[in-house]
Amino acid sequence: MAFELPKLPYAYNALAPHISEETLQFHHGKHHAAYVAKLNELVANTKLANLSLEEVVRTSDGAIFNNAAQHWNHSFYWNCMAPKAGGKPGGALADAIKRDFKGFDEFKAQFGEAAVGQFGSGWAWLVQKRDGSLAVEKTANAENPLTRGLRPLLVCDVWEHAYYIDYRNARAKYVEAFWNVVNWQLVASNLK
Ligand SMILES: [Fe+2]
Repeated sequence: MAFELPKLPYAYNALAPHISEETLQFHHGKHHAAYVAKLNELVANTKLANLSLEEVVRTSDGAIFNNAAQHWNHSFYWNCMAPKAGGKPGGALADAIKRDFKGFDEFKAQFGEAAVGQFGSGWAWLVQKRDGSLAVEKTANAENPLTRGLRPLLVCDVWEHAYYIDYRNARAKYVEAFWNVVNWQLVASNLK
């Protein structure tokens, strides 16, 4: 079965003014769609076509990995955001952040630094390690922490296509706006 572009979990205009309708239309409808189409082209008539997306991400390399991981990363990114979201997490996630970052503000600073500081295209992540502790990571291009045994909890896309329409070259402004749309409920549900 071919891989499919998931529907956005909200309307294209639902994250405005933080992320505009035009950005989401290009980002989801053109960029993400292109990764899915390319992935399907590359795995057609191979045994990879029958694997789950996560299995392809974990076991492939080269162009197949790049397109599969970009499909996984974008699908995850859409779910990490929601309209009328943002604020601060509560419950077990808030406790874990307090334990491993000395508080939400310090976590936010570290995550923002990873997102703004990633040189070139990539992603900023909150991950859970095998020992249960949380950490901030940044990855280049399509790289995904799953391949290093880390559990992604939250991601921010820092490829230019994620923010250029709305913020031009000002990645830091996009990352600041991102906090207004973080879907903490989803992030908390990823915690093991
Ligand atoms: Fe992207």
